[in-house]
Amino acid sequence: MAGEGAEWWSEETVAVVTGANRGIGLEVCRQLADKGLTVIMTARKPQEQLSNAAQQFLQEAAETGRKNVIFHTLDITQQQSVLDFVDWLKLTVGFADILVNNAAIDNSVIDWDFKKRNNVDQSTILALLTSANGVSNKYELARSCLETNFHGTGRLTKALLPLLRPSSHKPRIVNVSSRYGLLSLLRDEELRKQLCDTANLTEEKIDEVLDMFLEDVKSEKGMDRWPIEFPTYSISKLSLNAYTRLLALQLHDKACVNSVHPGYVRTDMNLGNGDLSPAEGAANLVRIALLPPGGPSGHNFLEGEDVEF
Ligand SMILES: NC(=O)c1ccc[n+]([C@@H]2O[C@H](COP(=O)([O-])OP(=O)(O)OC[C@H]3O[C@@H](n4cnc5c(N)ncnc54)[C@H](OP(=O)(O)O)[C@@H]3O)[C@@H](O)[C@H]2O)c1
Repeated sequence: MAGEGAEWWSEETVAVVTGANRGIGLEVCRQLADKGLTVIMTARKPQEQLSNAAQQFLQEAAETGRKNVIFHTLDITQQQSVLDFVDWLKLTVGFADILVNNAAIDNSVIDWDFKKRNNVDQSTILALLTSANGVSNKYELARSCLETNFHGTGRLTKALLPLLRPSSHKPRIVNVSSRYGLLSLLRDEELRKQLCDTANLTEEKIDEVLDMFLEDVKSEKGMDRWPIEFPTYSISKLSLNAYTRLLALQLHDKACVNSVHPGYVRTDMNLGNGDLSPAEGAANLVRIALLPPGGPSGHNFLEGEDVEF
């Protein structure tokens, strides 16, 4: 289990969290704020349209006179939104020490119409996976999932890199991944080898793999190369993990970049199913974000355990 050490952070430590309107992201904000860091809570909706839970969190922070929670709108799929956010951060705060890339969608798999029409629950949907009935790999859903989970995360990360503040404890990037992102789930050995080979990996190579996947989704052929369960979501996290390793290598000793699976958490993404509460899932991310200085980079954590990609 990755350890916790002496507190190296303070209110001067600035953490940016994406997708904090609900679920795990909101809890990450709460926990980082409780630990005394300054939290830049972001969500794709404007403040007045946030969930009740997010509004309440912000209201409580305001009522208790807390100045360490600041909200800003950020949609990671929109280039202009990312640029506006980074400009705002540069002007108001000037830097960031931690980036938690939490925002994601999973609309690539479950056919929500089928689910609604047949009034089926999540476990039934999972059972239906084997028959591919009620499960959708439709191109547009797949494309938008990759656009958010991989390209959107990369877009924000790249835009924010110049604002990551050098320090003795190093800036940290936590890419919120999934156990569905494990390389072993990729059924094509050659593709697995290519993504595994971090030294020769490039962003273009990852893009090529994603393009191949989308072509297969479109043609409805060749899907036997890709993960069986939740193929699009799985590929989105698998490519995010490849990006984690690539970025860790590129940033070398300038920042720690790690992938983290929060656990199976009861959020909207899982239709409320899961083993952990959102707070427990968030704690698994916060632990890695706040690892003592000198911690790992380019690693993959599954609920706190340092594991193979
Ligand atoms: N729950 C689990 O068991 C589990 C397991 C493994 C990994 N994860 C990962 O944990 C992270 C959080 O998931 P969750 O379970 O908390 O899911 P969730 O409840 O569905 O929350 C996802 C959040 O991401 C936001 N989001 C989606 N697209 C966005 C965009 N383009 N820009 C900004 N924000 C965007 C959503 O915004 P709106 O509220 O506006 O829709 C929502 O607030 C995700 O990366 C997920 O893949 C979850």
